Amino acid sequence: MISRETIDEVRSRVDIVDVIGDFVTLKRSGQNYKALSPFTNEKTASFYVVPAKGIFKDFSSGKGGDSITFVMEHEGMSYIEAIRYLGKKYGVDLKEEARSSEEIYQQSDRDRLYALMNYAKDYYKESLTQSEEGQSIGLSYFRERGFNDRTLEKFELGYSFNEWDHLSKKALGIGYTEELLEKAGLIIKKEGGRFYDRFRGRVIFPVHNLSGKVIAFGARILTKDKDQPKYINSPETEIYHKSNVLYGMFQAKNAIRREDFCYIVEGYTDVMSMHQSDVDNVVASSGTAFTEEQIKLIRRFTENVTVLFDGDAAGIKAALRGIDLVLKGGLNVRVVLLPDGDDPDSFSKKMGSTEFKQYLKDHTKDFISFKIDLLAAESGHDPIKKAEAIREIVTSISLIPDPIKRSVYIQETGQLLKIQETVLLTELNKILIGERQKDQQEKTRTNNRAPVADILPDVATGSKLDTSGMVQVQERETIRLLLNYAENAYDDKRLIDFMMAELEDVEFVNPVYKEIYLVFREGAERGEVRDPLYFMEHGSTTARNMVAELTTSRYETSKSWGEEFQIYFPHEREILHDVAYTNVLRLKFRMIQKLMEENLQQMKVAVAEEDLERHFTIHEQLKGAEKELAVMLGIVVAK
Ligand code: UTP
Ligand code: MN
Repeated sequence: MISRETIDEVRSRVDIVDVIGDFVTLKRSGQNYKALSPFTNEKTASFYVVPAKGIFKDFSSGKGGDSITFVMEHEGMSYIEAIRYLGKKYGVDLKEEARSSEEIYQQSDRDRLYALMNYAKDYYKESLTQSEEGQSIGLSYFRERGFNDRTLEKFELGYSFNEWDHLSKKALGIGYTEELLEKAGLIIKKEGGRFYDRFRGRVIFPVHNLSGKVIAFGARILTKDKDQPKYINSPETEIYHKSNVLYGMFQAKNAIRREDFCYIVEGYTDVMSMHQSDVDNVVASSGTAFTEEQIKLIRRFTENVTVLFDGDAAGIKAALRGIDLVLKGGLNVRVVLLPDGDDPDSFSKKMGSTEFKQYLKDHTKDFISFKIDLLAAESGHDPIKKAEAIREIVTSISLIPDPIKRSVYIQETGQLLKIQETVLLTELNKILIGERQKDQQEKTRTNNRAPVADILPDVATGSKLDTSGMVQVQERETIRLLLNYAENAYDDKRLIDFMMAELEDVEFVNPVYKEIYLVFREGAERGEVRDPLYFMEHGSTTARNMVAELTTSRYETSKSWGEEFQIYFPHEREILHDVAYTNVLRLKFRMIQKLMEENLQQMKVAVAEEDLERHFTIHEQLKGAEKELAVMLGIVVAK
C-alpha cells in the first residue's frame, strides 16, 4: 500500500526527540535526553533518547528501538499505522489510494477501531456545520454558549442527528461492520439483533489520545429533559480506557510543557472556555475522582498542577479528598477558588481573557496552605474541631513522598495554626509508621500467598530497593555459615574451601562482616581455619559481639514439636550443602543487583556519549548475569 521509497522518506524525516516529545517531556542530559518512562510507573527517570543514533532505551520496562518502534509500542499501532502517523506528522505524502473496504478489512483490530472513530468524528463534524439540522440545533447551541469557530475546530466538535441509525447506516454503507460499530461503542444492540446509534440528537465532544486520534465521544443533551443524562459517553473499548485519559490533554500538552504546570477543571466546556480565554494548559477530570494513571499521564509533562474549584462550600470539601491522591502521586498541588456560583466556563466568559488570567494568577494558592486556611476558619476556637483539622492536614502532608517538602509544610502548618512543630511531627510520624506497618503486613500477606517468588524483585523496575541492605543480609549469612560450619564437609572438600574459592573476588560491603571475612581469608591462606574462639581473643569489640550473636544457634529443633507432634526438622548440618550453595548464589545475586543500581545511578548523571554507551553495555551484561543467577536460584525475575 505504501511504497518502499515513501517509507524511507518518512524514516529520513523523523526526529526521534520530536516524535517522543509528543508523549513525554524530555530533559536534556549532555548529548542525550531522558524522561520518566512512559511505559511504567517509575519515580526517577531511566528512559533515554539518543538522538545521534535515533534510538530510545527504557531501562525500567526493557523496551527500546527507533521512532517507529516507539510509536508502535506506545500507541499500540501496527507498522503501517505508525508510518502513516509519522508521515502525516512530517508532511510526507504517502501516495496511498483511498482505502477500499477490503483494505479496511485487512487492518488490525485496533487500527480498524481508530479508523472507524475517525470516520465517525468527521461525520459528526460535517453534520454540525453542513446540515440544516446541525446548524439550527447544534451550531446555534455552541454559538449561544459563545464558542467560536476556532474552538469548534480545535476540539473537533460535532452533532449527531436525532435519528436511530443515521451514523450506522453510513458506516455500514462504506464497509464497516456491525460488529466493529459495536466494539467502538457507537451502536447499542438489542435482543433480536436490532441495534441503534448510541448518540442521537446531541452535540458531540470527541476525546483524543496523545497523538490526536479520537478514542471516545462525549455527547451533551440540548434539551432540559430531566429523564435523560446530561452527557452520554463512550463505553470502555479496546482503545478507550476512561481511567487513563484526561480530556483536553492532546490540545494542552504543548502549553503544559511550556508553562510547566497544568490546570485541572471538571468539564468539557470548562476546558474549551479556558482555551478561548487563551489559557491552553488545561485538562478535565470529567467529573470523576482522579486515578493513578491520570496522575502518571500529567507527570509525563509536568510535576505541577493547579486545581480550579467552583466556589460552593459543599463541593470544596468533597473535592479536597480527591486531591490527596494527587499529592500521593508526587505532584505539587495548587488551587484556585472561583467565586461562589461560578465554574471556569461561566467565570472566564464573564471576565474576558486578560482579567481572567490575572484572576488566576492572583488567586493561586498552595494546596496545603489553602486547606489550612479553610479548616482553621471552620474550626475557629473550638479545640476539638481544631485537633480534628490538624489531623486532617497532617494526613495530607504525610502523603507527600518527598521528606523535605513534608518538613517545609510541617513548619508552615505550625506557624499558621500556632502550634508547636514537635506536636505536628509526632502526629506525622505516627501516621507514617502506621502506613509502613500496613505496607509490611501487605507484603507478608502476599508473600505467604506465593512463597516461591522469594521476595527478590528486579532492581531495574524502578521500585526503590535497598540493594545494599540486601547484600548485607547475605553477607551475614555467609559469615554465620563460616563461623559455624567451616570444617564441615562440602562435597569432597570442606565448606571453607568451597566458600573461599567462590568468594575469591567478592568485596564485602558491611565493615564488620568484612573484618571477619578477611580474618577467615587470611587464615585460609596459611592453611588455618579460624573459629569463634579466635575472634574472641583477637577480634575488635564489634567483631566479638557479632561472632557471639552469630554462633548462638537458631536452628535447634524445639523439643516440644518433636515429642508432642512427632515432627522433626532436619538439622541445618544435614542440609548444609544446599544452604551453603544457595547462600553463595544469593550473595552474588544481590551484589549484581547492587552493581546494577550503582551503574544506573552513574548513567543518570552521565553526560558524554561514550560514558552512556559504556553504562548501557555494563547494564546489559549485569542484567544477563542476574538472569542466569536467577535461573539457578529458581527465581523468575521480571524482564
Ligand atoms: P458538568 O455537569 O459540570 O458539565 O459535568 P460541563 O462540561 O460543565 O457542561 P455544561 O457546561 O453544563 O454544559 C462535568 C463533567 O462530568 C461529566 C462530563 O465529562 C462533564 O464534562 N459528566 C457530567 C458526565 O459524564 N455525565 C453527566 O451526565 C454529567
Ligand atoms: Mn460544569
